[in-house]
Amino acid sequence: MTSRNGERPVRGPCASLARPALTALALSAIAAVACVAVSAAVRDVGTVTPELGEESPGGAATSRRELTDREAFAQASRGLSAEGEANFRIGNVIFRRLWVTAPASTDSADGLGPLFNARSCQGCHVKDGRGRPPASSGEASVSMVLKLSVPAVSDDERRLLDEHRVNALPEPVYGGQLQSFAVSGLDNEGRMEVAYRELPVTFADGATASIRAPSYAVAGLTLGPLHPHTMLSPRVAPQMIGLGLLAAIPEAGIRARADPDDRDGDGISGRTNEVWSLERERVMLGRFGWKAGMPTVREQTADAFGNDIGLSTTLRPRAAGDCTPAQKACIAAPHGNSAANDGVEVGDKLLDLAAFYAANLAVPPRRGARSPDVLKGKGVFHDLGCASCHVPSWRTGDAEGQAPLSNQLIWPYTDLLLHDMGEGLADNRPEGAADGREWRTPPLWGIGLTGTVSGHSFFLHDGRARNLEEAILWHGGEAQRSRDGYTTLPKSDRDALMAFLRSL
Ligand code: HEC
Ligand code: HEC
Repeated sequence: MTSRNGERPVRGPCASLARPALTALALSAIAAVACVAVSAAVRDVGTVTPELGEESPGGAATSRRELTDREAFAQASRGLSAEGEANFRIGNVIFRRLWVTAPASTDSADGLGPLFNARSCQGCHVKDGRGRPPASSGEASVSMVLKLSVPAVSDDERRLLDEHRVNALPEPVYGGQLQSFAVSGLDNEGRMEVAYRELPVTFADGATASIRAPSYAVAGLTLGPLHPHTMLSPRVAPQMIGLGLLAAIPEAGIRARADPDDRDGDGISGRTNEVWSLERERVMLGRFGWKAGMPTVREQTADAFGNDIGLSTTLRPRAAGDCTPAQKACIAAPHGNSAANDGVEVGDKLLDLAAFYAANLAVPPRRGARSPDVLKGKGVFHDLGCASCHVPSWRTGDAEGQAPLSNQLIWPYTDLLLHDMGEGLADNRPEGAADGREWRTPPLWGIGLTGTVSGHSFFLHDGRARNLEEAILWHGGEAQRSRDGYTTLPKSDRDALMAFLRSL
């Protein structure tokens, strides 16, 4: 069987060789020989057979225990030293800590706000899993944020963006993000509202589905209307696993896969985001966030402390977080900066521990990776060209002295590059080098445990997809061909693809 676009014919004779009774190694060896001999058309023989290492997607740092409960994402990288284990545990406490308003008796836990979206990291990354959109229009969007920015008008502003000094220009009154909470005595900024419209989808075999198209608005604004050219970008909190491993993928490898002008003509370009690093004081490859707007886990952590919880760090020392000079009451409110904490609310030691925790949340082992259905689905995944962006495996380099994360064969299913995903998914809000239609390929490892860990199955940057199938049906732009291919598959192949995704 060949794929629709003739790119990656993978199923056929090899599929019948995939039998779970054999060991992965033996199987790959047999399959490789047998498939090449049987059919010259089957080029990519590894894809429908178990591959060595794929059952431990985080390499040697994969979770020690095969948990399939709510704690599945809350485990430490395997192989941490005793000191690493201890730091992970303290980091966990910081991640879950509920910050309080300054001044408080506990100097090291105050400084919340004045504006904030949640009182703890865990408030959004519940159980280290992903957030979700509000269930009803009245519910405050607690595990989701709305980013705000305005286009450049002056030459200075244009230069800041061109030189990648900033990713976006904040809304002049409300700042870079809408905060729906404030400490007592202050007004919050307003709240995000979302409404959905159902769109029907018909498959080639006559089956139907429905996807929901969101539209966003801001209600209850306390300081007057937004700037007329404000661009909004809704984002759910992503799952937190394997981040230190993603950070350790060599930059050159990621850059080598970028194909901005689609020179190889496969319809898939892939661009890098280029963002300013506050800690390295230079432009770096962006890796984290839905548009790869953040260069390192530590900077993403400092950004979260500042914008999401309203806490200052040495990287982002403003005690008032995302408050702008126009928000006078917010600027004047008491803060928790203290000499004992490096002059800020969250001192370097705590920032480092929180970042260490975030970097060392382990990827869970695969479940049922060798079952015939899953292997068939893996073939479908490659057939449809999903792997062009959701690149199955990488080898990490030196993880800056973190031995368990270094030099590992990992299976994150991402290229960490930006792709034009079409008008349907566009937020029309550029961020760094990412334009309004581009998103970073999210890693798919652990995705099958979303329901177990997070208690829901909302996917994509704004949680609009209610299940994995809807996530695929939203793919457009560079992924249009993959999406269309999915709708022409027989039901048995669609089911197999789902079985594969659930096994990740
Ligand atoms: C109000 C909700 C919220 C809170 C609170 C929050 N986050 Fe996040 N987090 C997000 C969102 C939304 C993103 C995606 C950001 C983007 O797309 O730019 C994110 C992204 C991340 C990422 C990058 C993940 C990836 O896959 O790229 C890390 C790391 C992270 N957060 C750590 C933290 C830490 C540590 C804290 C506490 C200090 C925290 N977050 C608090 C909402 C939150
Ligand atoms: C052109 C690159 C590209 C191709 C091809 C592609 N994807 Fe994606 N995929 C993305 C990007 C980018 C996103 C994030 C889009 C968003 O959040 O708006 C995504 C999101 C997803 C998600 C949701 C992930 C999450 O964390 O919410 C799933 C599941 C997924 N893709 C599966 C697939 C499957 C299955 C195929 C093949 C049928 C496929 N993708 C093909 C780039 C691609």
